[in-house]
Amino acid sequence: MSDIKKIKEEFLNKLSDKLDLSEINEIKSNLFGKNGLISSQFKMIGSVPDNEKKKFASDLNNVKDELQDLINSKIDELQNIEINKKLEKEKIDVTLPERNFIRGKIHPVSQTIDEISSIFSEIGFSVEEGPDVENEYNNFTALNTPDNHPARDMHDTFYLDEKKETLLRTHTSPVQIRTMMKDKPPFKIIAPGRTYRSDSDQTHSPMFHQVEGLHIDKDINMGHLKGCLNYFIKEFFEVEKIKMRFRPSHFPFTEPSAEVDIGYEIKDGKIKIGEGDQWLEILGCGMVHPNVLKNVKVDPTKFQGYAFGIGIDRLAMLKYGINDLRAFFDCDYRWLNHFGFDPLDVPTNYRGLSR
Ligand code: DAH
Repeated sequence: MSDIKKIKEEFLNKLSDKLDLSEINEIKSNLFGKNGLISSQFKMIGSVPDNEKKKFASDLNNVKDELQDLINSKIDELQNIEINKKLEKEKIDVTLPERNFIRGKIHPVSQTIDEISSIFSEIGFSVEEGPDVENEYNNFTALNTPDNHPARDMHDTFYLDEKKETLLRTHTSPVQIRTMMKDKPPFKIIAPGRTYRSDSDQTHSPMFHQVEGLHIDKDINMGHLKGCLNYFIKEFFEVEKIKMRFRPSHFPFTEPSAEVDIGYEIKDGKIKIGEGDQWLEILGCGMVHPNVLKNVKVDPTKFQGYAFGIGIDRLAMLKYGINDLRAFFDCDYRWLNHFGFDPLDVPTNYRGLSR
């Protein structure tokens, strides 16, 4: 019997056994792999005498086709069996009751951050970010905050090492430093984010949110600051006119410094912004201190500008009638369901800015 016939008989025999997919694949490579039996036969064609060449080649091709067809149909067969087994297991029972569908809500703080970013972006501010874990230099020293300043006290600040070199940022102001260190003036940015202080009661929580603002250019003065804040407060509370007052204050990183109050009254149990004669403090601000500019290598004789820091949680509480700050961080789904925002609802003054 010729070699080709022998190969055929032997493999027909082998293939008649009950085989699994990996065994068939092994046979396939024994036959048709680079050094497989069929492949080696093809390599021998050159040494077959001329008068037998034609027959040898045609026999070889026939056996090759036959075995290949057989192997492929076996593989198909086994794959089908496996697919059917899988389908059997994954059968969908359409009679089962549907699962409860809970749609998530946007947290009021996230919503407020989106609204604030959107309003400031309308007047040319871009959004910057900084890390929650900050170094002492960016958080205090570069911001002209002296060693003996009460903000540096352990009672106020969460230090992360004994040497007090790293800490959880106590305000978003270090983003001013980071922004000015990495770029050249002018700067016109806001920086919303989480901030931390060792404080906890109905109106203070150890983690809270601020948005920092910074505008540095050649001719920026307090009038610009006032105009910008006036515009922001009106847009944010969606009112035509507001009452706003600047109260002299002190921050080491601004000179002069001010705190801003807005006028409000309570009518029918609801807070009305822009009316009445009650005052509520909502932010700190001022003209950036020349020492801060010097610390970030900006020449204070050429550039100047304003900065502000707004408490985001306070604004969210005011706008959405939430009276306990702690609820923001309780992770109570029922609360979120009530005060949260539908992701598909577009708020009235939301202009589609995505963070
Ligand atoms: N960083 C201040 C705070 O947390 C708020 C603040 C005041 C920020 C004045 C400023 C500013 O940028 O100019 O109390």
